[in-house]
Amino acid sequence: MRIKNKYKKPMTLRCCDAGSRCSTSVFLLSLLGCLILFQLYCYVDHTDRSGGGGEARLHVSHHPQVRELQEVEEENLNVPPPKGKRSPRAVKRRPKRTTTLIDEFLDENSQMRHVFFPGHKRAIDPMQVVDNDKYHYYPGRMWLDTEGHPIQAHGGGILYDKNSRTYYWYGEYKDGPTYHAHKKGAARVDIIGVGCYSSKDLWTWKHEGIVLAAEETNETHDLHKSNVLERPKVIYNEKTEKYVMWMHIDDSNYTKASVGVAISDAPDGPFNYLGSHRPHGFESRDMTVFKDDDGAAYIIYSSEDNSELHIGPLTEDYLNVTSVMRRVLVGQHREAPALFKHQGTYYMITSGCTGWAPNEALAHAAESVMGPWETMGNPCLGGNKMFRLTTFFAQSTFVLPIPGFPGMFIFMADRWNPADLRDSRYVWLPLIVAGPADEPLEYSFGFPWWSRVSIYWHRKWRLPQGWNPFQTM
Ligand code: DGJ
Repeated sequence: MRIKNKYKKPMTLRCCDAGSRCSTSVFLLSLLGCLILFQLYCYVDHTDRSGGGGEARLHVSHHPQVRELQEVEEENLNVPPPKGKRSPRAVKRRPKRTTTLIDEFLDENSQMRHVFFPGHKRAIDPMQVVDNDKYHYYPGRMWLDTEGHPIQAHGGGILYDKNSRTYYWYGEYKDGPTYHAHKKGAARVDIIGVGCYSSKDLWTWKHEGIVLAAEETNETHDLHKSNVLERPKVIYNEKTEKYVMWMHIDDSNYTKASVGVAISDAPDGPFNYLGSHRPHGFESRDMTVFKDDDGAAYIIYSSEDNSELHIGPLTEDYLNVTSVMRRVLVGQHREAPALFKHQGTYYMITSGCTGWAPNEALAHAAESVMGPWETMGNPCLGGNKMFRLTTFFAQSTFVLPIPGFPGMFIFMADRWNPADLRDSRYVWLPLIVAGPADEPLEYSFGFPWWSRVSIYWHRKWRLPQGWNPFQTM
């Protein structure tokens, strides 16, 4: 009995101890289980939401031609040993004779110049093309319009016009001499206007002319040639039946930091300039506009010395901003925003702020266009490390969805040539949203809530055969 008694109490106590430990563990396990179930539910709900039937579950990589584009293509570029004279600017930048690929890119006298800016001979003339080249994009080569002239649509974007079932590509027409207006200022070309090109197949581009032209004489006009007009984008307003162009308007010192608005009855212009302002009263430099599926449109611009982006809805007629504005990617110093949407999630590619020199792109995602926006990392795949760290020596400008291939987009970027801006090139590459994001994300408790945005390097590629240019977007 004594022995029994001796052990009874402690036994009861141990039991009690074990019991409470046990129930704590059960509680914790159930909590974890609930959390996992909740995450699973959210994930399934998220992928099903607004995807439209089977589309949400359709992985782009099930298409063999898209799978081909997802193959990682490496580049082996060797920097040649220094030879001959280097430009004074290159010497100043890096006095020692060790050179990197980026030095070579920025050196006008580099022996590798033809690698980054292949000459006219290798241009693709859509009228005299051999079958092997037809519909193929060669990132970085000179692209010609249907008349054989180099396409001038830098920092641009594409509008799909449902009325005419035609794509319109708008951008900076920079076919003038490059010079420095101020000793320390950025290289520039006087404003000539906004170039417009039309296409049915996204490959053959017909020049429609300059749809918004510079002002030659009135020096106080925003569009006076001595000013800056960059990154024009056009959206169509179904209610007013007007084509509305938004653009970055600045002086040659980039101190005006405003947005300009122009309007037209037709996609191929002419556009009527309405004026400029600082959106929400803030500086605005690199910018874009984004039209959502519900017809609401938004402006996104780099502000506060390019240290953050601002996002806000436009008025119903798209001619102004409303009073609503959110600051996003605060302190991240991003510019060149290009926004797109996939299965109800908003994505954005941005660049860093290094003038005309290339830098690392980042992909961001958000549940609501107004944020919060989360940074997911560098989307570039393939090439080599330097290619990936310089966005393939280019800077984002627009992301265009490919109808019929949910999750597939064309990433449009500019390979700026600061020594001769008119000779800047276009780097278009397949952008695919698929698979889990690389990094655990802040707003998703570490779960791969959003999909990875991947931009695949290819020397030569084409859109999947059978893409339907006329499917409603
Ligand atoms: C980077 C911007 O993205 C370009 O649009 C242009 O403004 C250059 N800076 C000018 O240096």
